[in-house]
Parts: sequence; structure tokens; C-alpha cells
Amino acid sequence: MKRTLLVLACLGALGASAVAAGTPAPPKGSASISLPGDIGMAFKPGPGVGAAQANCLTCHSSAYVSTQPVLSKAQWAAEVTKMKNVYGAPIADDAMPAIVDYLTTQYGKP
Ligand code: HEC
Repeated sequence: MKRTLLVLACLGALGASAVAAGTPAPPKGSASISLPGDIGMAFKPGPGVGAAQANCLTCHSSAYVSTQPVLSKAQWAAEVTKMKNVYGAPIADDAMPAIVDYLTTQYGKP
């Protein structure tokens, strides 16, 4: 009886040390990396930017917008419609005007 308990105690100790060995040591000190300033995930601030952030960054970066030529309102509307109808962007109909206005003001000509 005594021996059995001793064996169990040893197994318990082994198990505990195995778990401890499998746990990665906490990192010592800290490291940092630098990224290029604009990684293309931010739109210019302005009214409606929230709708653009919410609807236009799920598939690609904001650089897809910021690298376009200066587009008219009709052209931006066509872009947003294309994202929805051709590429399947889940943009609510009532969010479209705010997005189009935002894009026209910040990245287009009225
Ligand atoms: C469901 C995914 C998806 C969402 C959401 C999305 N796009 Fe796109 N977008 C695409 C794809 C796919 C392309 C084409 C990529 C390529 O040709 O390399 C694209 C390309 C573009 C382009 C480049 C010109 C073009 O017509 O190809 C612009 C501008 C653009 N998107 C704007 C937007 C705006 C503004 C929104 C938000 C209203 C948006 N996208 C949301 C998928 C999406």
C-alpha cells in the first residue's frame, strides 16, 4: 500500500515536470520592429469615414482608393456599386450614400 502511494507520487511529480517543460519560458526583455508609416489600412478622416472603414477594408487596403485618379461622384458611386454587385461586398443599401459622399469629398471632385 505504501509503495503504491510512493509510485503514484513519483508519477505525479514526473507529470508536473513534463507540463512545466512544455510551457515556453516568458520572453526576456522586449523587441520592436518598424513598419512603413502607412500600411494602407486607414482612410483620411472626415464625415462618413466610419462607413468606409467598416465596408471597404475587409477585402483590400485603403490604397485601392487612395491610388485612384480623382473621380467624380458618379464614378465613385459606380465603384461602390461594383464592389457590391460584382465582388460581393456586403454593403447595406442605406450605407451607400454616406460612403459615396465620403469618397467624393476626400478622394474625388464633387
Ligand atoms: C468583398 C470584397 C471587397 C470589398 C468589401 C470591397 N472591395 Fe474594392 N475591390 C475588391 C476586388 C476583388 C477588387 C479588384 C482587385 C484587383 O483587381 O486586384 C477591388 C478593387 C477596388 C478598387 C480598384 C479599382 C477597381 O475597380 O478595381 C477600388 C477603388 C475599390 N476596390 C474600392 C472599394 C471601396 C470604396 C469599397 C467600400 C465601399 C470596397 N472597394 C470594398 C473587393 C472588395
